Amino acid sequence: MTKHFDEAYRILAANDRGGYTVPTDRLYPFQWNWDSAFVAMGFATYDIDRAYRELERLVEGQWEDGMIPHIVFHQPSDTYFPGPGVWRTGHTIPTSGITQPPVFGIALRAVHEAAEKAGTANARARTLALFHAGLKWHRWWYSARDPEGTGLVALLHPWESGSDNSPAWDIALARVPTTTDTAVVRKDTGHVDAAMRPRDEDYRRFIHLVDTYAACGWEPAKQWEKAPFKVAEVQTTAILLKAGEDLVHLAGILGLDEAAEELAVYNTLTREALLAQWRPKLSRFVSRDLISNEDIEAPTHAGFIPLLALDLDKGMADAAAAEMKLWSDGMKVAFPTTKPFVGSFEAKRYWRGPSWAIINWLLIDGLTRNGLADMAVSLRSSTVSAIETEGFAEYFDPITGEGCGGLGFSWTGAAYLCLAA
Ligand code: GLC
Repeated sequence: MTKHFDEAYRILAANDRGGYTVPTDRLYPFQWNWDSAFVAMGFATYDIDRAYRELERLVEGQWEDGMIPHIVFHQPSDTYFPGPGVWRTGHTIPTSGITQPPVFGIALRAVHEAAEKAGTANARARTLALFHAGLKWHRWWYSARDPEGTGLVALLHPWESGSDNSPAWDIALARVPTTTDTAVVRKDTGHVDAAMRPRDEDYRRFIHLVDTYAACGWEPAKQWEKAPFKVAEVQTTAILLKAGEDLVHLAGILGLDEAAEELAVYNTLTREALLAQWRPKLSRFVSRDLISNEDIEAPTHAGFIPLLALDLDKGMADAAAAEMKLWSDGMKVAFPTTKPFVGSFEAKRYWRGPSWAIINWLLIDGLTRNGLADMAVSLRSSTVSAIETEGFAEYFDPITGEGCGGLGFSWTGAAYLCLAA
């Protein structure tokens, strides 16, 4: 047991680039947004100062309009594509132009609580500064990504979901042209087996989207109008809601009544909207394709992430749990990111089947919140034992349990520290 804790500490130290942590060496050589939020919670278990630093370095990349980018390019590296030259965001600190799931508020609460518990000296001031960054970001989500006030926030690029290559995007992404003036020089397939990565054709679509938004000068209203990919997404919305609840909690502690009220209004709107995405016949929640105006029924793990932020009635919670059990039965390592053995399921290709420690972490919290303690306990122990057996891989083949993708992965280390404790 201690051996694995030591290994997790070692990985986080090895991936430290000066107050921020790269997800893994070479494959992902910069600071990634939601990775850093998970990593901060890992650090909070043993090094509060470093936990705050992780979040502080992330918000160095925050835009004027409140957006916190999916990548902050603190230092150059030539082992990743697309770099700052492709994004053309024109910011002093180079960043990508899209965002990622707002785990930030969840992490900030965890870090703050750990700091309080440890009696850390300047915790309140550090939390306060980060709280304002988080509040600004939540405002951005609601104005830039839900301009019509539906309560569900939309993604304009599959990478914003964090579940970059999920079959959930197949139909919506197929509409995006493969044309691009940018030279697509992939680096990822030089680091890991191409069979675990997206197809070339999809990479051209990913870059077509970048070109389109760069041509909008990264202006949210223009992008909203021009976006050929627009998905009101339940995983991101659920994370936003949970983070919104955590920010309300912090606002209470910090005596920021107006901010608490503002966030509570967002949360109420989103709670109702998210609940309305439940589909009884599927026993899960669905995202909505805002271009075709159709439900996205592809069976992916995202359909269960709303448990994280909602208190379901017993009938719904039991139905979701039964469906989750169906997907997990016979798997060596749950929870598969695509329902096993449907046409789009691929056990080793990223986000099309593999199990991820951080997704399990969110699901465990959601199951616990909804009174499904037995399932939470078994998912927790299978996640911990997958890591202990296979190491700190980016993700796991759910059928064989094999560790896949990048190795020495920061968020797998953080998940271990939080789940094995
Ligand atoms: C991949 C994942 C994304 C993650 C990034 C760095 O792009 O899809 O969720 O943030 O790697 O780990």
